[in-house]
Amino acid sequence: MSDTPTIAIGIDIGGTGIKGAIVNTETGELLSDRIKIATPEGGKPKDVIDTVEQLLIQLKDAPKDAPIGIDFPAVVQQGRTMSAANVSKKWIGLEAEKLFEDNLKRDITFVNDADAAGYAEVRFGAAKGKNGLIIMTTLGTGIGTAIIYNGVLIPNAELGHIQIEGGDYEKKASYAAKERDELSWTHWAARLQTYYSELENLLWPDLFIVGGGVSKSYEEFLPKISIRTPLVPATLRNNAGILGAASLAVQPKVLVNVNQLVGEPTPK
Ligand code: BGC
Repeated sequence: MSDTPTIAIGIDIGGTGIKGAIVNTETGELLSDRIKIATPEGGKPKDVIDTVEQLLIQLKDAPKDAPIGIDFPAVVQQGRTMSAANVSKKWIGLEAEKLFEDNLKRDITFVNDADAAGYAEVRFGAAKGKNGLIIMTTLGTGIGTAIIYNGVLIPNAELGHIQIEGGDYEKKASYAAKERDELSWTHWAARLQTYYSELENLLWPDLFIVGGGVSKSYEEFLPKISIRTPLVPATLRNNAGILGAASLAVQPKVLVNVNQLVGEPTPK
């Protein structure tokens, strides 16, 4: 038996909705209804934190000491939000984790949204039980990515912003780009073909997982993409972020700690 808690709360902050539920982090089951509240207009930090607080009130059946994991669509380094590609610029450089903790009066684990979704797909979904180098991609307003190697998450891969044809490629290949440019499935798949080919040539993964809301229509576009690496649809759909955030809250060791990478400073 592991000594990590089994029940945790997962909260997934997105551009349009903030979703949360109580999770059994051993089985990946939701132990409550999934609560969804619209993301406040403008997505400013204080408003988002207030919304998360309301959501937690609604998850009243959670044990009082249940760990809380929250994911957010930006780079999260040492608890700070460091980017804001598709959210209010007010998040850039903010000590977001601390701000949530001060307001909620609880410890939280704060992570990137694609990292949470990717970790969940490896624990409970499309890549359950698989080792090797797995890259999760979420096709939505932007492109979120997660790198998981033998079950360990290497946080903050921002491969949606890879430069192809002289520009940030999430602007061309995200689902929002498909909608904006009114692309057919075939034309969008051609852009995805360029994208996944570039990624596989740079990183040589064993598996790509394709997530985001549009992945429920995977039959329309995945068969049109021809690359060497297996490319499979995500299976956890709307719950991936919640499940991953909750699981990371009870497994903080799977997040590579920066001190392990650079070592503690040597005393003089
Ligand atoms: C952001 C990522 C985020 C992704 C999906 C990108 O624009 O840079 O941090 O994971 O969108 O929300």
